[in-house]
Amino acid sequence: MKILATIAEMKAAVRAARSQGQTVGFVPTMGFLHEGHLSLVRASKSTFGLTVVSVFVNPTQFGPQEDFKTYPRDLARDAAMLEKEGVDILFNPEAGAMYPPGYGTYVEVQGLQDRLCGASRPGHFRGVCTVVLKLFEIIRPDVAYFGRKDAHQAIVLTRMVRDLNLDVRIDVRPIVREADGLAMSSRNTYLNPAERQAALVLIRSLRAAGTWIAAGERRAAAVVAGIREMIGREPLARIDYVEAVGAADLGPVETIEDGTLIALAVFIGKTRLIDNAVVGPEGKIW
Ligand code: PAJ
Repeated sequence: MKILATIAEMKAAVRAARSQGQTVGFVPTMGFLHEGHLSLVRASKSTFGLTVVSVFVNPTQFGPQEDFKTYPRDLARDAAMLEKEGVDILFNPEAGAMYPPGYGTYVEVQGLQDRLCGASRPGHFRGVCTVVLKLFEIIRPDVAYFGRKDAHQAIVLTRMVRDLNLDVRIDVRPIVREADGLAMSSRNTYLNPAERQAALVLIRSLRAAGTWIAAGERRAAAVVAGIREMIGREPLARIDYVEAVGAADLGPVETIEDGTLIALAVFIGKTRLIDNAVVGPEGKIW
């Protein structure tokens, strides 16, 4: 596996691979990798000749009071994990190269960027879209892989690709969970043992919602209220949002249907965790 740090080297490596007829799969990450990230890597490896993974903790997607400084970083560990998966290139650019002095160009997906996570993290999706568009330009992948763990992010990026006619396809993959159901996240490392236990309230409430919906409950307000009540009973949890929205426009829905996204963000202690479920046929959630 090559580890490349400069944009010029990265562009040249993809150009060389393409000139030999290789197709390119890309997995953007902020590192401190876990099985969720690796599921995306494996999807790319099974389809593409060249798999590129970026590890870049992107400063522009963090708010001033957020965890940019303390976000977990361990490039050696990430590199070892990616090497084992047979990744071809690990791209690890410097922040100063991605955002040189005087940097002033940003991408906004209006309408979608201010909902759900965007409401509590102003500017977050502007930073995500900007860095992802830059990475797409540098790597020029055929397909880029994202997790449904960050459902809102995947929806915003899919819209960006459509709106800007980008030559890349976004492939959104299922949520990978710990054995007890907690969605894997690099931020889970912030949780102390009591918080780790309390964090199960996210999946527990989503699963409960699934049983109510499967039993015929279709009123979004009732389902949201039920989830809020369950989370409210967990002393270490504080709700940021619980919403039932249409997956296309992220607008709130009154009636739960196939494809409705039930998304939540909850602080467990100081750590903000997100999780979601999509309502499928017969009210099953997945
Ligand atoms: P990061 O949080 O490192 O996540 C990288 C990718 O892994 C995202 O597409 C995310 O949805 C996916 N992922 C994380 N946890 C997952 C899980 N438990 N199951 C499945 N997929 C999971 O998301 C980002 O980084 C950044 O915003 C980025 C897109 C790299 C832009 O900076």
